[in-house]
Amino acid sequence: MKNITIAIDGFSSTGKSTVAKQIAKHLGYVYVDSGAMYRAVTYYAMQNGFIDDKHFNVEGLVAKLNTINISFKFNNAMGFAEVYLNGVNIENDVRTLEVSGFVSKVAEISEVRQKLVEKQQQLGKDGGVVMDGRDIGTVVFTDAELKLFMTASAETRAQRRYSELIERGDDVTYEAVLKNVQERDYIDTNREDSPLRKAKDAIQIDNSNMSLQEQFDKILKLAKTTL
Ligand code: C5P
Repeated sequence: MKNITIAIDGFSSTGKSTVAKQIAKHLGYVYVDSGAMYRAVTYYAMQNGFIDDKHFNVEGLVAKLNTINISFKFNNAMGFAEVYLNGVNIENDVRTLEVSGFVSKVAEISEVRQKLVEKQQQLGKDGGVVMDGRDIGTVVFTDAELKLFMTASAETRAQRRYSELIERGDDVTYEAVLKNVQERDYIDTNREDSPLRKAKDAIQIDNSNMSLQEQFDKILKLAKTTL
């Protein structure tokens, strides 16, 4: 069986990672959550005083980039790889609405993108990988055998993310989550470096009215035609 690369891009909270994890598990592939890497840099920036509601010290953060080591370690109990920052597990810390509020601004910085794209290419260099993000099919793996572009209405997406956060015990409102989803979509689509775009050869999947099982079946079928 060929070890292909599956690139899944799309708007915030389209459920990319949920289905990507299942597909990777089924095929025995590695799953890489590229968004977690941008979230890790953002978390570092928040912890070290480079970004808050009032200021953003881009130069200061860029100067520290080579001290930021992001890695993934598989958690057997969870069934997926968790993200680590300089050896510390930050999987839960990067999923907050606060990190979501800053991450798209951090992801606009070209130096940040360059560092993370290099790391993503290295993680997927042998194929047998499912990677999700915003620029995987357009920048990171332009020759991926299967490219998908996931969409759903902003309200559907916000409702999904809101339920996830509430389940975790976070104190958030649906309106705040919807606003964050819309803001991130705007910044991600309009930034200069690697804006969110559907790759020409990507297959679009609108999952507003699709169950997880339906998405899984559809993607697996597409993957099998390229295997
Ligand atoms: O996928 P997730 O929603 O966790 O991504 C968080 C943010 O990271 C996105 O809103 C986007 O700003 C940024 N990102 C990116 N390129 C990627 C993955 C994520 O710019 N490949």
